Amino acid sequence: MQTVTEDLRSGPDQAVIDRAGAVLRRGGLVAFPTETVYGLGADALDADAAAKIYAAKGRPSDNPLIIHIADWEAIGRIVSEIPESAKRLAEAFWPGPLTMILPKSEAVPLTTTGGLSTVAVRMPNHEIARALIRAGGGYIAAPSANTSGRPSPTEASHVAEDLDGAIDMIIDGGSVQIGLESTIVDLTDKVPTILRPGYINQEMLEAVLGTVAVDAALCGENVRPKAPGMKYRHYAPKAELFIVEGTRRQVRVRIDELARKAVQEGKKPGIIGTDESKEYYTCGLVKSIGTRADEITISRHLYSILREFDHSDISVIYSESFETPHMGQAIMNRLLKAAGHQVIKG
Ligand code: TXA
Ligand code: MG
Repeated sequence: MQTVTEDLRSGPDQAVIDRAGAVLRRGGLVAFPTETVYGLGADALDADAAAKIYAAKGRPSDNPLIIHIADWEAIGRIVSEIPESAKRLAEAFWPGPLTMILPKSEAVPLTTTGGLSTVAVRMPNHEIARALIRAGGGYIAAPSANTSGRPSPTEASHVAEDLDGAIDMIIDGGSVQIGLESTIVDLTDKVPTILRPGYINQEMLEAVLGTVAVDAALCGENVRPKAPGMKYRHYAPKAELFIVEGTRRQVRVRIDELARKAVQEGKKPGIIGTDESKEYYTCGLVKSIGTRADEITISRHLYSILREFDHSDISVIYSESFETPHMGQAIMNRLLKAAGHQVIKG
């Protein structure tokens, strides 16, 4: 298949959006930007189209897809019930990086929900995404547009790297804003529960809903995560990745020691530091993920830095830890997964 790339970095162009919408309406696959990561879109209400997503990504069929809508009114068709909590969250955070799990309606094929009776719904806050959703029929299933097991794409070139030749179209909308996937909150239990941390953090959800729980699997307990996708080892870089924890100073000293030792052993170490720490390190390939003064720069670059290391001949990576105030939980959740939970105390 020939993958067409459309350049919309300077904004939505209705003629292009209409062409992309037509591809979706005839059951094709279009990758598009959102504020979190790039999504791989297909008509969510067409089981055959949704099935193509699993095939293109190499995604296990029990890992459900998020349905993206552009307007609040659209939700009625895909859920069997709209709890008060959903209305309140939508008012506070939609359009935005929040996905809600709700009971599904008959209109949603089981292929889209990986066999579950619930459905994940999100209204992205991105001009191109919302225009495309409307042009494509209003209900676009979209997982992150990477092949299964690779970091989520935060720019169009990452999508092409993984899916060129396997999908109909890529819409290039430039680099994304947030860089980590949406927060997922399950509203089908008595207590709303976070299944995947993201930009909308627990504190923000609690300000709207009162008590919000966190899925036990996210707290390190050895139970099956409620979001099927969270059980897979995602984002594993080719090089072995270790996260070093401790005070800022301990971490820098320890990483520098580890990198020197790695060189002595004939390995090629890489280091994930920040604008504040990068000058400190004396050996290895040092990359700054962003600045601690603006934590969104850290979330935004996490996946691209992992991809960059995959293109190098680095064999081991030492990363600082980033327990930042707002997005720390989400950043560390993805980083720990990428590292297979290998943590070194500084
Ligand atoms: O930011 C995002 O959410 C991005 C952009 C493209 O919108 N999408 C995304 O989709 O991250 P994906 O497929 O990579 O992750 C969806 C996650 C998976 O962990 C999946 O298991 C979970 O959502 N999920 C989907 N439907 C669910 C359901 N009914 N119950 C529990 N978890 C669900
Ligand atoms: Mg994904």
